[in-house]
Amino acid sequence: MVKGIHDFFIADKELQKVPVIGPQKLAATLEGSKEFAKQFMFRHSIPTAEYFTATNENISDAFSFMERQKAPYVLKADGLAAGKGVLIIEDLVQAKEELKSMLAGKFGAASKKVVIEECLKGIELSTFVLTDGDSYLVLPEAKDYKRIGEKDTGLNTGGMGAVSPVPFASKEFLAKVEERIIKPTIEGLKKDSIPYTGFIFIGLMNVNGDPKVIEYNVRMGDPETEVVIPRLKSDFLEILEAVGKKNLKSKKSEFYDEIYTTVMVVSGGYPEEYKKNFEIQGLDQQFESVVFHAGTSLQQGKVITSGGRVLSVTSSGKDIKEALAKSYNTIKKIDFEGMYYRKDIGLDLI
Ligand code: AMP
Ligand code: GLY
Repeated sequence: MVKGIHDFFIADKELQKVPVIGPQKLAATLEGSKEFAKQFMFRHSIPTAEYFTATNENISDAFSFMERQKAPYVLKADGLAAGKGVLIIEDLVQAKEELKSMLAGKFGAASKKVVIEECLKGIELSTFVLTDGDSYLVLPEAKDYKRIGEKDTGLNTGGMGAVSPVPFASKEFLAKVEERIIKPTIEGLKKDSIPYTGFIFIGLMNVNGDPKVIEYNVRMGDPETEVVIPRLKSDFLEILEAVGKKNLKSKKSEFYDEIYTTVMVVSGGYPEEYKKNFEIQGLDQQFESVVFHAGTSLQQGKVITSGGRVLSVTSSGKDIKEALAKSYNTIKKIDFEGMYYRKDIGLDLI
């Protein structure tokens, strides 16, 4: 999307007929450039952390900005860096060194510019919006678990599990999110003449009851999707068609009230080096869960592992405990060599 696949469809007479859900190139810059996103938020008074955009030319001003911040120091490569471009560093001297190395090309062209941010303190969650560029639907919020280790330790991953709804996201808090963030985002896109068709994933920090934006992504999240979309009561295809026809106004969305959890089953070693091509046993049983396939492939009738994040096991229940028990029960029936999963998804929310 950042490279302009939607624009490619629009530019072609035949392909124009195909409705595309996903933003055009300019809109995708909200994820493709942290600086672009920050400027957008400040222009439209959307609450977010203070920032300074550092380049090799203004490094002494960048250092002064850092000196005015409290530890830890948040450094973000401006461009896309496969989810690895954000560094949070306790020590000021070390943070300055890191800034220099980022500007020198640590993340290639993505870190020629670095956005330095005020560090926000609070609990994170994600909200999701679908828009046809005019009206919007708010989808359920979710919380994901990014680190490989239990109690949020170890390396960052694409996501090890997720929960929706998020118990600490009260009605009052979500109303603030809609008024202060979602509406000004949609209005801001219109004012700036940035056409947007598709999902907006808003990463938020709950700072003492007030939402602040950490980042925009121009898509759904993984594994957030595996708990958000199953909650949808309305017909998903009809909603997507309405987006394609720019007629989303006519649609309402309804969601199940149950709690949904998903637990990611990964290859041993992930997110560092891991082995693939192990046969996955046990998939042909009855489960109380939906087992989404991610890093799998079919070879001679056998399902084998083909990636780091292999399966995402989603269940629902009247509370987090019940939903989790179903997911973990399902995982116990599945096996492949070296398989690993976190046993503490959602426990901090109980
Ligand atoms: P991002 O790629 O912008 O979502 O950043 C990755 C992670 O870094 C986020 O999920 C947060 O946990 C953390 N983070 C990013 N920006 C900030 C900030 N300004 N204050 C505190 N934590 C942050
Ligand atoms: N789970 C985070 C993401 O999809 O970016």
